[in-house]
Amino acid sequence: MVRKILKYGEPVLEQKAEAVIEFDTPELREVIADMWETMYAAKGVGLAAPQIGIAQRISVIDISVGEDETKKIVVINPEIASAEGKQTGEEGCLSIPGFREPVTRANKVAVRARNHRGEPIEFCAEELLARAFQHEIDHLNGILFINHLSTLKRDIIRRKIKKLQKAGEWD
Ligand code: NI
Repeated sequence: MVRKILKYGEPVLEQKAEAVIEFDTPELREVIADMWETMYAAKGVGLAAPQIGIAQRISVIDISVGEDETKKIVVINPEIASAEGKQTGEEGCLSIPGFREPVTRANKVAVRARNHRGEPIEFCAEELLARAFQHEIDHLNGILFINHLSTLKRDIIRRKIKKLQKAGEWD
């Protein structure tokens, strides 16, 4: 089922999500299936559970945007085990539609997580995939890409969003 993607301003987007403790349940499988459907419907490369109002540490990533089945990644309770280098690139977020800004992140990351069965999994990623991991893990900690911008840039975006909210164009 395609769920509503919550937009910036919803408190759940800026809260730390809870670790998943029960794996391999019908509920967990349903949440993950809904996250895929919702992400592809929005043509995103990643989605975190808080973006559909579920405060749990679950993210899905597919930098091929549905073109390559083998690129689909589900991470539960993910942690960045190590990070190195730097990259700067344009970033956006399905919860902050219409805004894109350059964000500097680590160029390479190693990620430890669990799969839907609770088994440990590990990824080594670089460039775009490393960026996606960092963006989606940030979401689980209540951090949005605009938190990585200068105060000035962030305030400009916040002001524009406030106008959109007042105009009823942000819900
Ligand atoms: Ni996002």
